[in-house]
Amino acid sequence: MNDPLPTQRMSDLGSTEASSAASPFRLAARAARLNPSIIREILKLTQRPGVISLAGGLPAAELFPVGEVREAADRVLRETPREALQYAPSEGFEPLREWVAQSLQAQGVAASAGQVLITNGSQQGLDLIGKVLLDPGSTVAVESPTYLGALQAFAPFEPEVIELAGDADGPTPEALRAARGARFAYLLPNFQNPSGHCLPEGRRAALVDAAREARMPIVEDDPYGELWYDAAPPPGLVGRWPEGVLRLGSFSKVLVPGLRLGWLLAPPGLFPKLLQAKQAADLHTTGFNQRVAFEVLRGGLLERHLPIVRARYRERRDAMADALRRHLGPGWRWETPGGGMFFWLEGPTHAPGLDTLALLPRAVERGVAFVPGAAFYADAMRAPTNRLRLSFVTVEPAVIEDGVARLARVLGDAADAAASDRASKAAIIAG
Ligand SMILES: Cc1ncc(COP(=O)(O)O)c(C=O)c1O
Repeated sequence: MNDPLPTQRMSDLGSTEASSAASPFRLAARAARLNPSIIREILKLTQRPGVISLAGGLPAAELFPVGEVREAADRVLRETPREALQYAPSEGFEPLREWVAQSLQAQGVAASAGQVLITNGSQQGLDLIGKVLLDPGSTVAVESPTYLGALQAFAPFEPEVIELAGDADGPTPEALRAARGARFAYLLPNFQNPSGHCLPEGRRAALVDAAREARMPIVEDDPYGELWYDAAPPPGLVGRWPEGVLRLGSFSKVLVPGLRLGWLLAPPGLFPKLLQAKQAADLHTTGFNQRVAFEVLRGGLLERHLPIVRARYRERRDAMADALRRHLGPGWRWETPGGGMFFWLEGPTHAPGLDTLALLPRAVERGVAFVPGAAFYADAMRAPTNRLRLSFVTVEPAVIEDGVARLARVLGDAADAAASDRASKAAIIAG
């Protein structure tokens, strides 16, 4: 099979050697920690004709409000062309900062525009936080599993990553207390990437209490909170401890990702350093894009657009839940997410040889792609091998049905093979 996956094996999830060996020049130690994203590599594979991709984390492009963005761009260029094309303040476009602060205030958060930093996607917020808060060897506490892009953003700052133990409600307050001394805890309370899990109210309160006691700031990353399909999630973490929570937000999933707009709400004590890091990184986020987004937002687009997105994604979520129920073999477990973009599947425990990373090339051959679970663990070499992430938002229900049926055949064969391999090994040992 002519694809890059055989070389894109486990080593590429965690190795530092492959990436540094390629350069003829001496690289900084941190460069060795920059690794290719397996998700980007998988996305290349999924562009092959005939492959149903349940792998990507992209929003559905057919729902982009293209007309509104075009009109807003025209208006910006007509009314404020020189301002929009000039250098701009590092903090961000003032009316957009104000819009973010007001939307947080509407959720009961005492936020002021002066604490809002507009970033180049929330991904840049993760990088800036790493720069300002992490030293080599300092610890950062993350959920297990967690967002791969955050692990990548923190890695160059050479932290020790502690995976917080969890239970059915999410990471436990005891685990957070045990991580005392970590520079911060990185948490995704709403429809987590990759698990789809939403922290219940009681766990939110308990985690914030534990962090406050341990004097450990929380980085609250919430790109999916507005994408709920059954009920809005409980209030976020930042309103419970405004002095200790850095809140990241993104326009990528509710508007469009291509404008690359996110924001960071920082406590006053941290804001100046984050702003200086932002200035050093890129001077400012594109002023033109910020003005276009603001034009779209102030016209009330989100109020009209979000119900459409939620309805379409809910339909696709339901189609995937239904297809998984009908097609997946015994022993596979998942939680139907109340929002966001992902299902997280856990393979049967009676088939411990099951390795979703090794299965991916076979799945692609059979015309379906997913993201192997190992990608979402801080220690990929020790990550469970029987998990995988499926995205439902970009695929029509009929195609979801077909994709899940194909996937179920690949997973079923593999689980059977792993179980019978184990049984024959047991027989050899017993005999
Ligand atoms: C949890 C999480 N955080 C941050 C990001 C980055 O989003 P963006 O930089 O587009 O705002 C993503 C993107 O998928 C994500 O899933």
